[in-house]
Amino acid sequence: MRRFSLGDESVILEILSNAFGSLQDAQQPRSIMASRFFDSNACFIAEEDGSPVGCVALTGLPRERWYVVRFLAVKPSRSKVQVAEKLLGKILEHLGSRRPEFVRATTPAVQPYVDVYKQSGFRPVRRDFRITWDLKDSYAVPNIQIVMRPVLEETAKEAASIFVRSLASHWDWRTAEQGGTKAVEESFVEGVRKGEQWMVGQSDGHDVGIVGIIPDFYRHGEARFRGAYVLPENRDRGIGMELMSEISRLAIEKGQGKMTVFTFSYLDCLTPGALLYLRSGGKIDAEYLQLERVRKKIPSVN
Ligand SMILES: CC(C)(COP(=O)(O)OP(=O)(O)OC[C@H]1O[C@@H](n2cnc3c(N)ncnc32)[C@H](O)[C@@H]1OP(=O)(O)O)[C@@H](O)C(=O)NCCC(=O)NCCS
Repeated sequence: MRRFSLGDESVILEILSNAFGSLQDAQQPRSIMASRFFDSNACFIAEEDGSPVGCVALTGLPRERWYVVRFLAVKPSRSKVQVAEKLLGKILEHLGSRRPEFVRATTPAVQPYVDVYKQSGFRPVRRDFRITWDLKDSYAVPNIQIVMRPVLEETAKEAASIFVRSLASHWDWRTAEQGGTKAVEESFVEGVRKGEQWMVGQSDGHDVGIVGIIPDFYRHGEARFRGAYVLPENRDRGIGMELMSEISRLAIEKGQGKMTVFTFSYLDCLTPGALLYLRSGGKIDAEYLQLERVRKKIPSVN
Protein backbone atom coordinates (compact mmCIF):
# COMPACT_ATOMS: atom_id res chain seq x y z
CA MET A 1 0.00 0.00 0.00
CA ARG A 2 1.54 3.33 -0.95
CA ARG A 3 0.50 6.95 -1.02
CA PHE A 4 -0.38 8.79 -4.21
CA SER A 5 2.53 10.64 -5.77
CA LEU A 6 2.89 13.06 -8.65
CA GLY A 7 1.95 11.41 -11.96
CA ASP A 8 -0.34 8.83 -10.34
CA GLU A 9 -3.45 10.49 -11.85
CA SER A 10 -3.16 8.20 -14.87
CA VAL A 11 -2.73 5.16 -12.57
CA ILE A 12 -6.01 6.03 -10.78
CA LEU A 13 -7.84 6.57 -14.08
CA GLU A 14 -6.60 3.25 -15.40
CA ILE A 15 -7.68 1.33 -12.27
CA LEU A 16 -11.12 3.00 -12.34
CA SER A 17 -11.59 2.24 -16.00
CA ASN A 18 -10.47 -1.37 -15.48
CA ALA A 19 -12.76 -1.86 -12.49
CA PHE A 20 -15.88 -0.08 -13.75
CA GLY A 21 -15.64 0.29 -17.54
CA SER A 22 -18.25 2.71 -18.89
CA LEU A 23 -19.86 3.16 -15.44
CA GLN A 24 -17.06 5.55 -14.59
CA ASP A 25 -16.13 8.28 -17.04
CA ALA A 26 -12.71 9.89 -16.76
CA GLN A 27 -13.92 13.49 -16.70
CA GLN A 28 -15.17 13.58 -13.11
CA PRO A 29 -12.15 11.88 -11.43
CA ARG A 30 -9.84 14.06 -13.49
CA SER A 31 -11.48 17.27 -12.30
CA ILE A 32 -11.60 16.02 -8.69
CA MET A 33 -7.89 15.18 -8.75
CA ALA A 34 -7.16 18.68 -10.09
CA SER A 35 -9.30 20.39 -7.43
CA ARG A 36 -8.40 21.81 -4.03
CA PHE A 37 -10.46 19.04 -2.41
CA PHE A 38 -8.01 16.34 -3.48
CA ASP A 39 -5.24 15.61 -0.99
CA SER A 40 -2.41 13.36 -2.19
CA ASN A 41 -1.73 12.34 1.44
CA ALA A 42 -5.24 10.90 1.60
CA CYS A 43 -5.11 8.79 -1.54
CA PHE A 44 -3.67 5.27 -1.53
CA ILE A 45 -2.67 2.83 -4.22
CA ALA A 46 -2.46 -0.92 -3.60
CA GLU A 47 0.25 -2.81 -5.45
CA GLU A 48 0.67 -6.53 -6.12
CA ASP A 49 4.03 -7.74 -7.39
CA GLY A 50 5.04 -4.12 -7.93
CA SER A 51 2.03 -3.25 -10.15
CA PRO A 52 -0.86 -0.99 -9.14
CA VAL A 53 -4.07 -3.01 -8.65
CA GLY A 54 -6.34 -0.82 -6.52
CA CYS A 55 -6.96 2.67 -5.20
CA VAL A 56 -9.03 4.77 -2.83
CA ALA A 57 -9.17 8.48 -1.89
CA LEU A 58 -10.56 10.68 0.81
CA THR A 59 -11.56 14.04 -0.63
CA GLY A 60 -12.72 17.17 1.15
CA LEU A 61 -15.98 19.08 0.89
CA PRO A 62 -16.26 22.87 1.19
CA ARG A 63 -16.85 22.38 4.93
CA GLU A 64 -14.24 21.76 7.55
CA ARG A 65 -13.97 18.10 8.62
CA TRP A 66 -16.58 16.93 6.06
CA TYR A 67 -15.27 14.23 3.73
CA VAL A 68 -16.16 11.91 0.86
CA VAL A 69 -14.51 8.50 0.36
CA ARG A 70 -14.29 7.77 -3.37
CA PHE A 71 -12.34 5.93 -6.08
CA LEU A 72 -12.45 2.62 -4.17
CA ALA A 73 -11.63 0.31 -7.07
CA VAL A 74 -9.64 -2.87 -7.69
CA LYS A 75 -8.65 -4.40 -11.00
CA PRO A 76 -10.30 -7.79 -11.66
CA SER A 77 -8.44 -10.46 -9.67
CA ARG A 78 -9.13 -13.27 -7.23
CA SER A 79 -8.10 -11.13 -4.27
CA LYS A 80 -10.37 -8.21 -5.26
CA VAL A 81 -12.46 -8.29 -2.06
CA GLN A 82 -9.44 -8.49 0.25
CA VAL A 83 -7.66 -5.66 -1.58
CA ALA A 84 -10.81 -3.49 -1.43
CA GLU A 85 -11.16 -4.20 2.31
CA LYS A 86 -7.52 -3.32 2.94
CA LEU A 87 -7.79 -0.08 0.96
CA LEU A 88 -10.91 1.01 2.81
CA GLY A 89 -9.31 0.04 6.13
CA LYS A 90 -6.33 2.22 5.25
CA ILE A 91 -8.46 5.25 4.45
CA LEU A 92 -10.52 4.81 7.63
CA GLU A 93 -7.34 4.62 9.68
CA HIS A 94 -6.19 7.83 8.01
CA LEU A 95 -9.61 9.40 8.63
CA GLY A 96 -9.25 8.74 12.36
CA SER A 97 -6.48 11.35 12.57
CA ARG A 98 -8.74 14.01 11.03
CA ARG A 99 -11.52 14.03 13.64
CA PRO A 100 -14.25 13.95 10.93
CA GLU A 101 -17.63 15.47 11.54
CA PHE A 102 -19.32 13.95 8.49
CA VAL A 103 -18.22 11.18 6.13
CA ARG A 104 -19.96 9.76 3.12
CA ALA A 105 -18.85 7.53 0.30
CA THR A 106 -19.74 7.25 -3.34
CA THR A 107 -19.34 4.20 -5.57
CA PRO A 108 -20.78 2.71 -8.73
CA ALA A 109 -23.61 0.50 -7.45
CA VAL A 110 -21.74 -2.77 -7.97
CA GLN A 111 -20.28 -5.45 -5.74
CA PRO A 112 -18.07 -6.10 -3.92
CA TYR A 113 -17.74 -2.37 -3.15
CA VAL A 114 -21.24 -1.89 -1.72
CA ASP A 115 -20.75 -4.77 0.74
CA VAL A 116 -17.21 -3.70 1.61
CA TYR A 117 -18.54 -0.27 2.58
CA LYS A 118 -21.49 -1.74 4.50
CA GLN A 119 -19.19 -4.03 6.46
CA SER A 120 -17.15 -0.99 7.51
CA GLY A 121 -20.11 0.83 9.02
CA PHE A 122 -21.49 2.72 5.99
CA ARG A 123 -25.17 2.60 5.13
CA PRO A 124 -26.78 3.45 1.79
CA VAL A 125 -28.61 6.79 1.83
CA ARG A 126 -29.28 7.73 -1.78
CA ARG A 127 -28.85 6.56 -5.35
CA ASP A 128 -27.24 8.65 -8.08
CA PHE A 129 -28.04 8.20 -11.75
CA ARG A 130 -26.18 9.20 -14.85
CA ILE A 131 -28.88 10.08 -17.37
CA THR A 132 -28.14 10.73 -21.04
CA TRP A 133 -30.30 12.16 -23.82
CA ASP A 134 -29.75 11.37 -27.43
CA LEU A 135 -30.80 14.76 -28.76
CA LYS A 136 -32.11 13.31 -32.02
CA ASP A 137 -35.01 11.70 -30.10
CA SER A 138 -38.13 13.81 -29.79
CA TYR A 139 -40.91 13.71 -27.21
CA ALA A 140 -44.28 15.38 -26.59
CA VAL A 141 -44.13 18.73 -24.81
CA PRO A 142 -47.04 20.67 -23.23
CA ASN A 143 -47.80 23.90 -24.98
CA ILE A 144 -46.90 26.50 -22.37
CA GLN A 145 -45.74 29.98 -23.27
CA ILE A 146 -42.33 30.44 -21.72
CA VAL A 147 -39.86 33.17 -22.61
CA MET A 148 -36.25 32.08 -22.15
CA ARG A 149 -33.64 34.64 -21.10
CA PRO A 150 -29.94 33.76 -21.17
CA VAL A 151 -28.13 34.37 -17.86
CA LEU A 152 -25.29 36.86 -18.30
CA GLU A 153 -22.53 37.74 -15.84
CA GLU A 154 -24.56 40.85 -14.85
CA THR A 155 -27.68 38.79 -14.10
CA ALA A 156 -25.90 35.79 -12.56
CA LYS A 157 -26.65 36.82 -8.95
CA GLU A 158 -30.37 37.07 -9.61
CA ALA A 159 -30.32 33.72 -11.41
CA ALA A 160 -28.40 32.17 -8.51
CA SER A 161 -31.22 33.12 -6.18
CA ILE A 162 -33.78 31.34 -8.44
CA PHE A 163 -31.45 28.33 -8.48
CA VAL A 164 -31.14 28.04 -4.68
CA ARG A 165 -34.86 28.65 -4.11
CA SER A 166 -35.61 25.78 -6.51
CA LEU A 167 -33.14 23.51 -4.74
CA ALA A 168 -34.93 23.73 -1.39
CA SER A 169 -36.28 20.49 0.10
CA HIS A 170 -34.92 17.76 -2.24
CA TRP A 171 -31.37 19.13 -2.36
CA ASP A 172 -30.94 20.25 1.25
CA TRP A 173 -28.36 17.51 1.86
CA ARG A 174 -26.21 18.79 -0.98
CA THR A 175 -26.56 22.45 -0.02
CA ALA A 176 -25.32 21.46 3.47
CA GLU A 177 -22.37 19.55 1.97
CA GLN A 178 -21.46 22.49 -0.24
CA GLY A 179 -21.28 24.87 2.72
CA GLY A 180 -24.79 26.38 2.73
CA THR A 181 -26.98 28.52 0.50
CA LYS A 182 -24.53 31.41 0.18
CA ALA A 183 -21.71 29.11 -0.95
CA VAL A 184 -24.02 27.46 -3.52
CA GLU A 185 -25.01 30.90 -4.85
CA GLU A 186 -21.37 31.93 -5.15
CA SER A 187 -20.42 28.72 -6.94
CA PHE A 188 -23.32 29.26 -9.37
CA VAL A 189 -22.05 32.77 -10.20
CA GLU A 190 -18.52 31.35 -10.61
CA GLY A 191 -19.90 28.71 -13.01
CA VAL A 192 -21.50 31.40 -15.19
CA ARG A 193 -18.19 33.26 -15.22
CA LYS A 194 -16.45 30.09 -16.40
CA GLY A 195 -18.85 29.55 -19.30
CA GLU A 196 -21.79 27.51 -17.97
CA GLN A 197 -24.81 28.48 -20.03
CA TRP A 198 -28.01 29.02 -18.05
CA MET A 199 -31.41 30.29 -19.12
CA VAL A 200 -34.16 31.64 -16.90
CA GLY A 201 -37.72 30.77 -17.97
CA GLN A 202 -40.40 33.43 -17.58
CA SER A 203 -44.16 33.05 -17.78
CA ASP A 204 -46.52 36.06 -17.67
CA GLY A 205 -43.51 38.24 -16.84
CA HIS A 206 -42.49 36.18 -13.78
CA ASP A 207 -39.43 33.99 -13.33
CA VAL A 208 -40.58 30.37 -13.11
CA GLY A 209 -37.42 28.27 -13.38
CA ILE A 210 -33.91 27.85 -14.66
CA VAL A 211 -32.01 25.35 -16.80
CA GLY A 212 -28.37 25.04 -17.84
CA ILE A 213 -25.73 23.21 -19.89
CA ILE A 214 -22.00 23.17 -20.49
CA PRO A 215 -21.49 22.39 -24.20
CA ASP A 216 -18.62 20.06 -25.27
CA PHE A 217 -17.94 19.13 -21.62
CA TYR A 218 -17.39 15.38 -22.03
CA ARG A 219 -16.11 15.54 -25.57
CA HIS A 220 -16.90 17.49 -28.71
CA GLY A 221 -20.70 17.42 -29.17
CA GLU A 222 -21.43 15.95 -25.70
CA ALA A 223 -22.75 18.45 -23.19
CA ARG A 224 -23.01 18.29 -19.44
CA PHE A 225 -26.60 19.10 -18.55
CA ARG A 226 -26.70 21.11 -15.30
CA GLY A 227 -30.34 20.33 -14.60
CA ALA A 228 -33.81 21.85 -14.70
CA TYR A 229 -35.13 23.71 -11.66
CA VAL A 230 -38.64 25.08 -11.24
CA LEU A 231 -39.62 27.43 -8.39
CA PRO A 232 -41.84 25.54 -5.91
CA GLU A 233 -44.95 27.68 -6.58
CA ASN A 234 -44.79 26.90 -10.33
CA ARG A 235 -44.42 23.12 -10.25
CA ASP A 236 -46.77 20.45 -11.68
CA ARG A 237 -47.90 22.66 -14.58
CA GLY A 238 -45.63 21.29 -17.30
CA ILE A 239 -42.97 23.99 -16.91
CA GLY A 240 -40.25 21.42 -16.22
CA MET A 241 -41.07 19.65 -19.51
CA GLU A 242 -41.03 22.97 -21.36
CA LEU A 243 -37.59 23.81 -19.90
CA MET A 244 -36.34 20.39 -21.07
CA SER A 245 -37.58 21.12 -24.56
CA GLU A 246 -35.90 24.56 -24.58
CA ILE A 247 -32.56 23.24 -23.33
CA SER A 248 -32.57 20.40 -25.87
CA ARG A 249 -33.18 22.96 -28.60
CA LEU A 250 -30.32 25.14 -27.34
CA ALA A 251 -28.00 22.12 -27.07
CA ILE A 252 -28.74 21.10 -30.68
CA GLU A 253 -28.16 24.70 -31.81
CA LYS A 254 -24.74 24.52 -30.10
CA GLY A 255 -23.87 21.41 -32.11
CA GLN A 256 -24.47 18.90 -29.29
CA GLY A 257 -25.63 15.37 -30.12
CA LYS A 258 -25.92 14.21 -26.51
CA MET A 259 -26.29 15.65 -23.05
CA THR A 260 -25.69 13.97 -19.70
CA VAL A 261 -26.67 14.80 -16.13
CA PHE A 262 -25.90 13.26 -12.76
CA THR A 263 -28.86 13.38 -10.43
CA PHE A 264 -29.90 11.62 -7.27
CA SER A 265 -32.96 9.63 -6.20
CA TYR A 266 -34.07 8.25 -2.88
CA LEU A 267 -33.38 4.60 -2.11
CA ASP A 268 -37.01 3.56 -2.45
CA CYS A 269 -38.41 6.02 -5.01
CA LEU A 270 -37.42 8.35 -7.81
CA THR A 271 -37.22 12.11 -7.26
CA PRO A 272 -39.38 14.43 -9.40
CA GLY A 273 -36.15 15.44 -11.19
CA ALA A 274 -35.30 11.87 -12.24
CA LEU A 275 -38.92 11.32 -13.33
CA LEU A 276 -38.89 14.51 -15.39
CA TYR A 277 -35.65 13.44 -17.06
CA LEU A 278 -36.93 9.97 -17.94
CA ARG A 279 -40.22 11.46 -19.17
CA SER A 280 -38.33 13.81 -21.49
CA GLY A 281 -36.42 11.01 -23.19
CA GLY A 282 -33.35 10.64 -20.95
CA LYS A 283 -32.05 7.12 -20.27
CA ILE A 284 -30.31 5.95 -17.12
CA ASP A 285 -26.96 4.57 -18.23
CA ALA A 286 -25.18 4.20 -14.89
CA GLU A 287 -26.18 3.96 -11.26
CA TYR A 288 -24.16 4.89 -8.17
CA LEU A 289 -24.74 4.63 -4.45
CA GLN A 290 -24.14 7.24 -1.76
CA LEU A 291 -23.45 5.81 1.68
CA GLU A 292 -22.96 7.58 4.98
CA ARG A 293 -20.74 6.51 7.83
CA VAL A 294 -22.87 5.70 10.82
CA ARG A 295 -21.53 7.56 13.80
CA LYS A 296 -20.60 5.38 16.71
CA LYS A 297 -23.04 5.93 19.56
CA ILE A 298 -21.50 7.38 22.69
CA PRO A 299 -22.36 4.86 25.41
CA SER A 300 -24.78 6.34 27.91
CA VAL A 301 -23.58 6.61 31.47
CA ASN A 302 -26.10 5.72 34.15
C1 LIG B 1 -38.01 18.38 -11.22
C2 LIG B 1 -38.81 19.65 -11.46
C3 LIG B 1 -37.94 20.59 -12.32
C4 LIG B 1 -40.09 19.32 -12.22
O1 LIG B 1 -40.70 20.53 -12.60
P1 LIG B 1 -42.27 20.63 -12.90
O2 LIG B 1 -42.50 21.92 -13.61
O3 LIG B 1 -43.05 20.39 -11.68
O4 LIG B 1 -42.45 19.40 -13.92
P2 LIG B 1 -43.66 19.17 -14.93
O5 LIG B 1 -44.92 19.75 -14.38
O6 LIG B 1 -43.23 19.62 -16.29
O7 LIG B 1 -43.74 17.58 -14.92
C5 LIG B 1 -43.15 16.81 -15.94
C6 LIG B 1 -43.02 15.36 -15.53
O8 LIG B 1 -42.06 15.25 -14.48
C7 LIG B 1 -42.47 14.24 -13.55
N1 LIG B 1 -42.74 14.90 -12.24
C8 LIG B 1 -42.64 16.21 -11.97
N2 LIG B 1 -42.94 16.44 -10.66
C9 LIG B 1 -43.22 15.24 -10.12
C10 LIG B 1 -43.57 14.82 -8.81
N3 LIG B 1 -43.69 15.68 -7.78
N4 LIG B 1 -43.77 13.50 -8.59
C11 LIG B 1 -43.66 12.64 -9.60
N5 LIG B 1 -43.31 12.98 -10.88
C12 LIG B 1 -43.09 14.26 -11.14
C13 LIG B 1 -43.71 13.62 -14.13
O9 LIG B 1 -43.33 12.55 -14.94
C14 LIG B 1 -44.27 14.75 -14.96
O10 LIG B 1 -45.03 14.33 -16.03
P3 LIG B 1 -46.61 14.01 -15.86
O11 LIG B 1 -47.17 15.15 -15.05
O12 LIG B 1 -47.09 13.96 -17.24
O13 LIG B 1 -46.64 12.71 -15.13
C15 LIG B 1 -39.21 20.34 -10.12
O14 LIG B 1 -39.86 19.40 -9.30
C16 LIG B 1 -38.02 20.89 -9.36
O15 LIG B 1 -37.56 22.00 -9.62
N6 LIG B 1 -37.47 20.12 -8.39
C17 LIG B 1 -36.34 20.54 -7.58
C18 LIG B 1 -35.11 20.76 -8.41
C19 LIG B 1 -34.59 19.46 -8.97
O16 LIG B 1 -34.45 18.49 -8.26
N7 LIG B 1 -34.25 19.46 -10.27
C20 LIG B 1 -33.53 18.37 -10.86
C21 LIG B 1 -32.08 18.65 -10.65
S1 LIG B 1 -30.95 17.52 -11.37
